[in-house]
Amino acid sequence: MKPLIVANWKMNPETLKEAKKLFDSVKRGIKNIKKAEVIICPPYIQFSIFNFQFLNNIKLGAQDVFWEKKGAYTGEISPLMLKDAGCRYVIVGHSERRKYFKETEEQINKKLKAVIEAKMTPILCIGETKEERESGKTKEILEREIKLGLNRISASKIIIAYEPIWAIGTGNPCKIEEAQKMRLLIRKIIARDIPILYGGSVNSRNAEGYIKEAGFQGLLVGGASLKAEEFVDLVKNVC
Ligand code: PGA
Repeated sequence: MKPLIVANWKMNPETLKEAKKLFDSVKRGIKNIKKAEVIICPPYIQFSIFNFQFLNNIKLGAQDVFWEKKGAYTGEISPLMLKDAGCRYVIVGHSERRKYFKETEEQINKKLKAVIEAKMTPILCIGETKEERESGKTKEILEREIKLGLNRISASKIIIAYEPIWAIGTGNPCKIEEAQKMRLLIRKIIARDIPILYGGSVNSRNAEGYIKEAGFQGLLVGGASLKAEEFVDLVKNVC
């Protein structure tokens, strides 16, 4: 399997013009790369940068979704709307959504089901906080997030992203050996052969280690995906 590199732009950049510039630079930079699959997840309102182009090595992803198909849900976006906009992947249960928007395991489970039903691939984010890690609760947390998140979901078309919360946006990535142990633990808990990505302060220098040494099938990249040159280097380095 080709490494899957997911760019999570979060609530960036500030204007459509900047988003287009970033997208075009990345597109140009990885034009000839065939050994990695890149998924870019811009804010919904910037989806138009893709302009319905079906690019070989870049796919459109979303950062979130609502589980209902349509109706009176002010401010929400449905799975079918995402699909219709050309979206193929959807990040679900990112720690920032769990923290700032109080997303529950039950809601995350509903979102996963809705994404699968709409024939897109969900990327379920799991990971422990610094406090949970320090008090030896990591395994318990991961087991809980996997068990409740994947409750009554048998589909194999799902991706897991292990994102230790203490490593997100901190410049303090999880060490390769520890990340490898976590990958094996997650694999054991899931007991299914589905892709597992790593996320948390990934950059062009450490990216390769997570794929080639720790054995992850891909990466979820935040900060480093907002700098075109850095992101292009990162993609090149994992190929
Ligand atoms: P980061 O974010 O690469 O900036 O640490 C990763 C993420 O939150 O998905």
